[in-house]
Amino acid sequence: MKILVVGGGGREHTLVWKIAQSPLVEKIYCAPGNPGIAELAECVHIGADEINTLLEFALAEKIDLTVVGPEVPLTMGIVDIFQAAGLDVFGPNKAAAQIEGSKRFSKDLMARYNIPTAAYRSFSDHAQAVAYIREQGAPIVVKADGLAAGKGVIVAMTEEQAIAAVDDIMLDQVFGAAGASVVIEEFMDGEEASFFAFTDGENILPLASSQDHKRVNDNDEGPNTGGMGAYSPAPVVTGELHQLIVDTIVKPTIDGMAQDGCPYSGILYVGLMIKDGKPRVVEYNARFGDPEAQPLLMRMKSDIVPLLQACARGKLQHDAIDWYDKAAVCVVLASGGYPAAYEKNQPISGLDKAATIEDLMVFHAGTALHDGQVVNQGGRVLGVTGLGETVRDAIDKAYAGVEVIYWDKVHYRRDIGAKALGR
Ligand code: AMP
Ligand code: GLY
Repeated sequence: MKILVVGGGGREHTLVWKIAQSPLVEKIYCAPGNPGIAELAECVHIGADEINTLLEFALAEKIDLTVVGPEVPLTMGIVDIFQAAGLDVFGPNKAAAQIEGSKRFSKDLMARYNIPTAAYRSFSDHAQAVAYIREQGAPIVVKADGLAAGKGVIVAMTEEQAIAAVDDIMLDQVFGAAGASVVIEEFMDGEEASFFAFTDGENILPLASSQDHKRVNDNDEGPNTGGMGAYSPAPVVTGELHQLIVDTIVKPTIDGMAQDGCPYSGILYVGLMIKDGKPRVVEYNARFGDPEAQPLLMRMKSDIVPLLQACARGKLQHDAIDWYDKAAVCVVLASGGYPAAYEKNQPISGLDKAATIEDLMVFHAGTALHDGQVVNQGGRVLGVTGLGETVRDAIDKAYAGVEVIYWDKVHYRRDIGAKALGR
């Protein structure tokens, strides 16, 4: 098979790495890819959101399966145009991708099907939004309706903060059209976990559990990021809780989407808040998590390609996924300053040394090549991912890799996986 992976971050490097192990695959392309991906696939200079150019490429190269990493091309309708051209493509179509693309859409879906989540109201009128905040008090959470590159959620500890967020989103339009309306919801406390399931629109195949670390600094301090590290399995998700999540959240979501005439296929990512053994939905995403994909796919024993193909074709009849009975931990190395401004183009050393460490993978995210030298280019730069017999071993492995890699102003958390040890 010839496979095209769309995207160029750590998640896509991990997908390419996993797909490359399949005996079914003869050639992998990645658009646009990155220097890490270039070691495993042919990178093509097409942006992930240039969906018409991607279609022309896929038709010309007779691609057998396209796997879409990021949310933006999904919400633009890449799946719709590929399917209309008779091509197999993994991911939800434009209508179904609204589950991530519109907070209002997803909250209304959950309300309609009694899926547990925070109480909420949505507003397209600024004055009404402010009045609601005054009435509810703080803490309270303000969310721009549309996609805002992971920055559209403000967890406000005071009414003033919440109102300032509504001003920014609705009056100053800091997230552009994504802020034409807002969702204001109840603050939930508890422990977060990420839950993923493959689906063909009808059948569901859950993955192993995982947990992300969203805040930029140790002890979950500082601003939210795309994710500073992740591990799998997540002991907070017990076997009992796993089943509860499938029965009360994943299944009703997939059934509800089908019932609404908007069947969802691909991978469903449910961000959860867990309190007293009860899961509630924080948000849905229409794609793999980044960096959750890194530890999850390192633990996956099954060939991923038949699973991706079955989802794309509406024929997901697999009973289970095989996993290595090991733990995996991914530590993200970021550019100092991220998620705000940071310096780019610093040479990165130690990658060759890290490559000699067994059971360790360094997935590239925001890197670039300058005259043969790998430099930092984005906020999240590398995902150093270790595999071990236990979470403790996997943490030690990942940080052994982290220790040999360096660039000026590299930043990472030192407590990735620590929550799992506490259990
Ligand atoms: P989202 O983009 O919806 O994942 O939100 C980003 C982060 O904001 C989540 O991972 C949570 O840490 C936090 N968050 C979102 N909604 C809530 C809520 N209702 N209560 C508490 N924290 C929340
Ligand atoms: N790790 C968070 C995300 O992928 O959205």
